[in-house]
Amino acid sequence: MKAGDRVLVHAAAGGVGQAAVQLAKAAGATVYATASPHKWPVLRAQGVEHLFNSRTLDFADALEGGVDIVLNSLNKDFIPAGLRTLAPGGRFVELGKVGVWSTEQVAAEFPHVEYHNFDFSELPADEVTRINKEIMTDVAARIAAGGLDPVGTTGYTLDEVEEAFGVLSRGANVGKLVLGFDQPAPPAAIRDDRTYLVTGGLDGLGLLTARKLVALGARHIAVPGPGEAPELAGAHVTVLGPDLAGLERTPPVAGVVLADGDPEQAWRLHERFPAWTSSSRTPTSPPPSARPTGRSPRTPSTTSSAPARRPAPPRWPSPGARWASRSTRCTPSPRPRRCAPSPPWSAPAPA
Ligand SMILES: NC(=O)c1ccc[n+]([C@@H]2O[C@H](COP(=O)([O-])OP(=O)(O)OC[C@H]3O[C@@H](n4cnc5c(N)ncnc54)[C@H](OP(=O)(O)O)[C@@H]3O)[C@@H](O)[C@H]2O)c1
Repeated sequence: MKAGDRVLVHAAAGGVGQAAVQLAKAAGATVYATASPHKWPVLRAQGVEHLFNSRTLDFADALEGGVDIVLNSLNKDFIPAGLRTLAPGGRFVELGKVGVWSTEQVAAEFPHVEYHNFDFSELPADEVTRINKEIMTDVAARIAAGGLDPVGTTGYTLDEVEEAFGVLSRGANVGKLVLGFDQPAPPAAIRDDRTYLVTGGLDGLGLLTARKLVALGARHIAVPGPGEAPELAGAHVTVLGPDLAGLERTPPVAGVVLADGDPEQAWRLHERFPAWTSSSRTPTSPPPSARPTGRSPRTPSTTSSAPARRPAPPRWPSPGARWASRSTRCTPSPRPRRCAPSPPWSAPAPA
């Protein structure tokens, strides 16, 4: 990336987008950005003048053939639309994970562009460590020298994890959301003769959670499918069919971790296994009014690298509840979604 390049940054108000905007501007490039219109003031304040709605394809007609680099993370029609904006020799950098095009497909339909599709999470762990170290060293030095600002962050306590994932899943965040671990959870008593159900446990955060459970002593992990059972040395992994088929063949469930960020899944589990909500550790009253649902996302802190903080709300669920979540039912539109609280649920405490 060099001075004078015209760079299209999709989802420019998100975590990656915010970093990309700064790097492009620092290189002397002209930034064209997409974002939800209510986030445009943030981008304007950062000196981004050319703004398009990230939920429409308007940018493609406006920029057709005039862009040197596209940083893409949007899918479906946004992929050919983004490719269409590139000038001959332009580069399409694909960060997305869903419905991405193959190199052959791009070469066939857009032979005049370069296509770079990579997924950081697919690199070997030592390679990720090396690259992370290199990038962090460089970025920290540039921030210290005043050439870059830290990306804005909004802080959440562990008790607010559901709200944080709700903001992320609605795409309502600006910059990064940061979970604070300043209230350490009590150590979990993991049993080797019980099953731990991890939604989203086939990859990403869920797989990391499953690995941690095994490291803590779990020997039976159940994961909703479809997908291939991950190798977890020392543990037996059951991939469940529709409606959690196969769970009846595993030892009794002693814990559930919702790692797929899907509140509807939480609600389905609650409805399917009401007994799991009967634990004496399950809160029986609604959460404190200090935890309203459906409120506007917070404004991120952009003045410091420390997450924006606010006084912690009263703890809920009760400190004794180890495996608990609170599901929220949301209507699909309009954004921001209206969410109504649903009954809390939790798995029974290990017997
Ligand atoms: N390949 C890799 O190595 C790699 C590495 C890091 C991240 N990524 C990918 O890069 C993308 C951005 O990561 P991030 O950390 O910046 O995520 P992020 O902070 O959550 O930003 C994502 C943004 O996408 C926008 N968006 C556009 N259309 C959306 C839709 N239909 N639904 C929800 N959001 C939509 C939203 O902003 P607006 O409301 O403004 O549109 C949202 O804030 C993700 O897809 C991530 O998986 C890839």
